[in-house]
Amino acid sequence: MSNVHVMDHPLIQHKVSLMRDKETGAKEFRELLNEISMLMAYEVTRDLPLKTVEIETPICRAQTKVISGKKLAIVPILRAGLGMVDGIMSLVPAAKVGHIGLYRDPNTLEPVEYYCKLPADAEEREILLVDPMLATGGSASAAIRFIKKRGCKNIKLVCLIAAPEGAARVQADHPDVDIFVAAMDEKLNDHGYIIPGLGDAGDRLFGTK
Ligand code: PRP
Ligand code: URA
Repeated sequence: MSNVHVMDHPLIQHKVSLMRDKETGAKEFRELLNEISMLMAYEVTRDLPLKTVEIETPICRAQTKVISGKKLAIVPILRAGLGMVDGIMSLVPAAKVGHIGLYRDPNTLEPVEYYCKLPADAEEREILLVDPMLATGGSASAAIRFIKKRGCKNIKLVCLIAAPEGAARVQADHPDVDIFVAAMDEKLNDHGYIIPGLGDAGDRLFGTK
């Protein structure tokens, strides 16, 4: 999978293991997702373009680099994607935030859109679409389709845990989208849950089960 990037830094692996543990409560789960999202943002933004500016240090004038070019928009897939926004924002505070509301129909496993609000200038921004879980890939693929319909071209998908099936589906549907994950797991079970995964990310984040 050429455009799938697995970020297996030891700190990320350690924190993902803590999140997988069923004994980890909602507060710690949220904190860990926040920390991992920040660590992932560091890597995901590695190719942001730079420009040279001139500034004055206390010692002399100097040519130095600042980020230029496209600005970022973070787009969480509701609900669980919300848990990744603050960690990324702590590194890129000027990013705008859009929201896409999708839920997975428990019978068909197909995504149903119930909300979409993007920044007015979204098509001029690089989009970081965020969702902790990439299972069948139906939600992420549909979200990318909706975002593209609104004119966005430059999209990266950032997930915590992926199943090979989901990554393959997004790659097939959207070969132009790079996918960043902290872990690539084994497979899906019969209910579309990732094995070993971490269970239902939305429920564990918000304590709804
Ligand atoms: C989860 C998860 C993804 C989706 C992944 O959300 O956060 O959005 O499932 O599954 P897929 O790759 O098979 O589409 P869910 O539908 O449970 O909604 P929630 O975030 O509101 O709990
Ligand atoms: N959604 C989740 O929250 N977890 C999974 O394992 C699959 C879909």
